[in-house]
Amino acid sequence: MSEPASPYGHSPVTQVGPYRLLRRIGQGGMAEVHEAVVYGGSGFEKRVAIKMLRSELRGRGDLERILIEEARLGARLLHRNLVQVHDLGLDGDVYYVRMDFVDGADLASLIRPGLARGQKPPVELSLLIAEEIAVALDYVHRFCDDAGRPLGLVHRDISPSNILLSRSGEVKLADFGIAKATHLTEITRGNVRKGKYAYMSPEQVENQRLTGASDQFALGVTLMELCLGRRPYDAESVLETMERIRQAAPPELSGLGGELPTIIRRCLARDPNDRYASTEELRREIARLRRYLPLVTCGDLGRWVSQLLQQDQRERALREARGETEPLHEAITQQLSEPRGETQIEDSAVPRERADESETAPHRETPAPGLVSDGDKVIVTLS
Ligand SMILES: Nc1ncnc2c1ncn2[C@@H]1O[C@H](COP(=O)(O)OP(=O)(O)O)[C@@H](O)[C@H]1O
Ligand SMILES: [Mg+2]
Repeated sequence: MSEPASPYGHSPVTQVGPYRLLRRIGQGGMAEVHEAVVYGGSGFEKRVAIKMLRSELRGRGDLERILIEEARLGARLLHRNLVQVHDLGLDGDVYYVRMDFVDGADLASLIRPGLARGQKPPVELSLLIAEEIAVALDYVHRFCDDAGRPLGLVHRDISPSNILLSRSGEVKLADFGIAKATHLTEITRGNVRKGKYAYMSPEQVENQRLTGASDQFALGVTLMELCLGRRPYDAESVLETMERIRQAAPPELSGLGGELPTIIRRCLARDPNDRYASTEELRREIARLRRYLPLVTCGDLGRWVSQLLQQDQRERALREARGETEPLHEAITQQLSEPRGETQIEDSAVPRERADESETAPHRETPAPGLVSDGDKVIVTLS
C-alpha cells in the first residue's frame, strides 16, 4: 500500500492490492468507497469499487469485523438488484472489499438538490425504484444456507444512500454492513448495530428482534420521502425523532393518489404483524399500482439518472466559473457530509480487539451507555 500525500481529503491511500484508487465516490458512517481500476495484460483494464473503513476508523477491530462480515455475506448473495461483492483483501493492515462499480449515484445524492428546490422525482420512477428494492429485499429475506434453511436475513439499513442507481437504469441495494441473520448467529459476530435513525422501525429503535418487516418500514419511509419530499417522523432532535418512530402514528399523506397512501401506511404500521406478510406481497401491491401510472422502464430511469448527473455537473462547472468553488478537498467533504436523518446510530458493546486478534492496536474506549453527540454524528450506546 502506498501513501503519498493525497489531493483529496482524509484518505492518503492511493493503491490497495492491485487496485489503483481513482476517486472517492462516497462515504457513509463507517466506510469510504472509491472508484478504482485494475490493469491486466494486453491493455486489459477493469473498473471496480473498493470499500474500506474511513481513515479515522481504521484499526478499530469491531468495525473491521463488520467489514469482513459484510464481505463474507455479500459474496454469498447473488442478485441483479444487489451490489455484487467479489473479494475481501488485506493490504498492510487495511482491509478492503472489492465490489462491482455502479456507474451512477446513490438515490440520496441524486434527489437532494431537487428536493431542496421543491422538485420531487416523478412518482412513476419512485415506484419503479421501490419495486426493484422490494425485489432485492424479498431475495434477501428468503435467503437460505447451503442446507436450505432460511437465515432470516434482515438488511436493517434501508435508506436512499444505500440505494444505487446506474446511468443504464439499474437499481442496486448496497451496504450489508449491518445485515443480520436472525435465525443463525454465525453470519455476524459482535453486536455492533448502526443505522440511520430517520429510517429505523419502531422495533429497531426499541432494540427488539427484527424480521424482514423492519426493512418494509424503512422502505415505507424512503417511499414517502421520494413521493412527498419529507419523512414521516422527523423532529428537531434525534431523541424526539426516535420517540415519534416508537409511536409510529399513521402519517399525513395528503397529495398522494390511488392506493399509494394505503401502501405507505401499511409499511409504516407500528406493529410488524400489520405490515405486508412478505416483501413479495408489498412488491405486488406496488406493481399493481404502477399499472395505473404512465409506463416507465429501466431505460427511462437511466435517462433520468444521466440527466440529473449532467445537471449536477453543469451546476458545479458554473459555480467554478463564478469562482464559488472551494478547494477540492473541501468540496468533496461538503458533498459527502450527511444530511439530517442520515446520521448513523450505533449501539455497541463489542470487544475492541482487532479482527485478526493478533495485534493490540490502539482504540477508542467504548463510551458508557447513553447518547453521545459528536458534531453531525450521533452514537447511541445501548450496551
Ligand atoms: N459499488 C458501488 N459503486 C458505486 N458507488 C458505491 C458503491 N458502493 C457504495 N457506493 C457509494 O458509497 C457510499 C457509501 O457506501 P456504503 O457501502 O453505503 O458505506 P457505509 O457502510 O459507510 O454506509 C454509498 O452511499 C454510495 O454513494
Ligand atoms: Mg451506507
